[in-house]
Order: sequence, then structure tokens, then C-alpha cells
Amino acid sequence: MSTLLGKRILLGISAGIAAYKSAQLARLLKKAGAEVRVVMTEGAQAFITPLTLQALSGETVRTSLLDPEAEAGMGHIELARWAELILVAPGTADLMARLAHGHADDLLTTLCLASDAERVMAPAMNQAMWRHPATQRNARQLEDDGWRLLGPDAGDQACGDIGPGRMLEPETILESLLAVTSSLFAPSRATADARGLTIVITAGPTREAIDPVRYLSNHSSGKMGYALAEAAVRRGATVKLISGPVSLDTPPGVERLDVESAQEMFEASRRLAEQSDVFIGCAAVADYRVEHVAEHKLKKTAERDDLTLKLAKNPDIIAEIAALDRRIRPFVVGFAAETRDLEAYARDKLLRKGLDMIVANDVSQEGLGFGADHNAALLLWRDDDRSPGRRELPAQTKQTLASAVFEAILERLTASHETPSS
Ligand SMILES: Cc1cc2nc3c(=O)[nH]c(=O)nc-3n(C[C@H](O)[C@H](O)[C@H](O)COP(=O)(O)O)c2cc1C
Repeated sequence: MSTLLGKRILLGISAGIAAYKSAQLARLLKKAGAEVRVVMTEGAQAFITPLTLQALSGETVRTSLLDPEAEAGMGHIELARWAELILVAPGTADLMARLAHGHADDLLTTLCLASDAERVMAPAMNQAMWRHPATQRNARQLEDDGWRLLGPDAGDQACGDIGPGRMLEPETILESLLAVTSSLFAPSRATADARGLTIVITAGPTREAIDPVRYLSNHSSGKMGYALAEAAVRRGATVKLISGPVSLDTPPGVERLDVESAQEMFEASRRLAEQSDVFIGCAAVADYRVEHVAEHKLKKTAERDDLTLKLAKNPDIIAEIAALDRRIRPFVVGFAAETRDLEAYARDKLLRKGLDMIVANDVSQEGLGFGADHNAALLLWRDDDRSPGRRELPAQTKQTLASAVFEAILERLTASHETPSS
């Protein structure tokens, strides 16, 4: 696991009720070995005092942009240059809006604009504020501008509401930082890591025809698979995306092959997987298809109150790819969407299907998984025949999560090349 030893982290605190958790976060960052300097918005000081953060960080807390005394010491530009990582926690809706529009009307926003450090934010707000189209727009803009958003979490809120908007717990924020530190602190690797690799990804649902106008399908939106394709192509990989029917644009640089049924997806996967380094089965493939597809549209009749469809088993795409001969078999990553006993089911699937890694999601959580823009994941991988390795990735946008998942895939792929027996 990476460490934060000696990393220069600027902790930005804005005026949310979760600001009290920033004290614990500052402590944890220090404990992990980071140098921490704190900048607070004016409003944040109504929630927690600079003195508390000064005591925990061991550094003077900066709160004001137009402060001649502070500017005589480490001025705001020097502070912006000093930071290797800007971590804003909590990030209010207001701060997100100001940053998304490039404002520089206080110290924190000015630093964010003046610094080329890595930028991470843990948003925190009331669920209605988070769901508001303006905030969602700002979140997307921030991600396009290079921010990584961690969370928010969903659940009980300080205001009594229930839903998405809670700041992630400080321990979870630290864990996520540790999980992605290698990519955060080695930006020059960002486009080079996957160069020369061919990644095949399946995404979206499949459609199993009943008759010429009807089909069986599921709620998969394809967002996670598309986000993975985008993350992989950004890292320099050649990406082939085998997509079920979705209403998403193809990410630039990705080669897309459209399919409908599980059988078509299987055939395309089998063909492309042999020439790939990594196969990621992210599609929600129908387990069964209709055994006899009607040639003509089925008609409702007055005589019959029911209709029975006989289903036949579809090929298990990911298991078939995992069972390929070692010489042509890629590194195989599966997905598991579960509504209970997540880890146990995922572990079983990993081992039973002979996968190298599995990305498990709990789709019973509100606002996460199918159709949603956010997801959380538990990664399990086969670790040299010993018990599976594991890493938890907290709720975040599917784009940010996809980068973290892809990062982990590259790590494990490298490890598997270094360990011939695995
Ligand atoms: C008691 C209280 C709690 C608040 N909690 C939040 C919050 O959790 N998230 C948020 O986005 N705004 C919250 N607000 C509103 C912000 O404080 C307000 O938008 C402020 O202008 C943000 O300032 P800043 O972005 O400069 O820190 C809260 C306001 C009050 C009075």
C-alpha cells in the first residue's frame, strides 16, 4: 500500500456541517506522514475554529486572501506551488459552484486556480442540494477540469433528511487517497501506464428477443463500462468496447462494436479476447434467452389468460474467457452486482469462474449502481492461490471509480507478470 510520507497536502475546509470531521481528517493525514497546511473559507470558521486545525496540523491556518501579514510570509502563490495535493473536505455546494466557474474570490478558490497540484474533493451537503441539476452540472464540470470527487455517501443527514450528500468518513477519505496515491503523485505515468495494452470491455445490457418486437432485458445503463473504457483510453490503452444497446456516446478514441443478444456478445468477446491483454466483463448479460423466438408478433387471444416462455441458458461469457488456454488467455476481470452478502457471493464467483479479479457492487444501496451516476465497489483478486486480496472503493462518480478500478487492474496485471506461478 502507498503512503503519504512527506506528501505536501493542502486541506481546504468550506462551510458545511461536516467541517467538524475535518479535524479528524487532518489528524489522520498527519499520522499517515503527510505535511498538512489548512486553508479555511470564511464560513468554515463558524463551524470549526482555525485554532483546532492549527493545533492538529502544527501549522498556522490561513483564512484570508487579502492579508498583508500572511502575504509577507508564504504568499498565496507560494502556497499554491507548495501543495502536491489539494484536498477539499467538506466541499460545499457553494464552493463547488465557485470552483466550477473558475472564481478566485477567496483564498481557497484562488489557490485552487493558481495551483497545478492534484485536486480531490469530498462533497458534503443536504441531499436536495446534491441532487440539484446545478450541483450535478458543477460536479461534472469539476471532474472534466481534473478534480477527483470522493463520495458523497448516502444515508441519514444532519438535517434529518435521508439520501446522498453525506461527507465520507475521514478514515474512508484517507483510504481512498492511499489507494490512488501512486497515480496522484506520479502524473507523468498517467498516460504511459497502459500504452501497448489492448483492453476489451463489455458494457450495457443484452436483449433477448421474444418475437420481432419484444425482448427480455435489464436495467444496466452501460455507464460503468463506458467510464472504464474512457479511463483505459486516457491511460494510453487500445480499447475495444463491446456494447449492448445503451444511449451513451462512444468515448473518444474507443473502438465500439454494437451487439444485442448474449450470444452475439459472446461471439464478439471470444473473437476479441484472444488478441487482448485484459478482458473486462462489465455487461449485464442475460443468463437465459427465449428458446424459440416467435417469427411473428405474438398476439393476445381471447382464449388464453397466460403465456409460458421457455428459456434456455446463455453462454457464461466471462467463465468461457477465463477458461481459455493460458497462451491466449487475457487477464480477466468480472463484475458482480449483488443485493446482499456482497463479499461472499463475489468471492465465490471469483474462484468458481476462475477470474483474476472481481469488482463487486451492492446495487441495493439508494443512488448507487444500475442507472445511477455513482457507484461504490469492493475489489477482490486472486492472490497467488492464497486468500483473495481486497480493496474497498467508496461511493464516488462512476468516472472517478472507473479510474481507481483501472488503476487496480494495472497493478494486478503487473503483479501477475512478476509472479509466474499466479
Ligand atoms: C448550519 C448550516 C449548515 C450548513 N451545511 C452545509 C453543508 O453541509 N453543505 C453545504 O453545501 N452548505 C451548507 N450550508 C450552507 C453554506 O454554509 C453556505 O452555502 C456558505 O455560503 C458556503 O460558504 P463557502 O463555500 O465559502 O464555505 C450550511 C449552512 C448552515 C447555516
